[in-house]
Amino acid sequence: MSMSKKLMSALLMSVGIGFAGAAWAAGGTADVPSVAEKKDFGCGAKGQKACPMQGWMKTVMQSATSSGDAAKIATALEYVASKPPPGMAKWVAISKEGVEKAKKGDVDGAKASCKACHDLYKAEYKEKLRDAPF
Ligand code: HEC
Repeated sequence: MSMSKKLMSALLMSVGIGFAGAAWAAGGTADVPSVAEKKDFGCGAKGQKACPMQGWMKTVMQSATSSGDAAKIATALEYVASKPPPGMAKWVAISKEGVEKAKKGDVDGAKASCKACHDLYKAEYKEKLRDAPF
């Protein structure tokens, strides 16, 4: 006795639906990342206002570093340290390392924390969290 074509395709269908459901539960189907890339936060894109953290970085953080004033840089990095986004476990430690360097007057050392955080988290932040208040 062989399985009827109808039953066979019904089985295949339900496997397919089960798989799609699992993929959805696990965070989406294969095309979700491209959707996330294009997510419109209402800020940060061409012609839009800066996103909250982006604007803060461009004004407060950048003017602190271009002033070369270690105390200002320490204060700005302390503020960053006080605002860890969910799931970014090294955020606080990276920022505090920069605070310590800045407090010792080591501006270049403090700036290493900018790069460390940007390399690790900037892309993810821009993809997922950039409309969060900062
Ligand atoms: C612990 C994390 C962290 C630290 C430390 C940090 N940044 Fe950032 N920075 C970010 C994130 C995340 C963004 C992206 C925000 C966005 O675009 O929405 C950003 C964005 C920026 C931007 C805006 C860039 C753009 O293209 O719009 C500048 C400028 C900047 N940071 C400068 C600095 C400087 C200078 C320092 C160090 C003195 C620093 N940042 C330290 C996380 C950090």
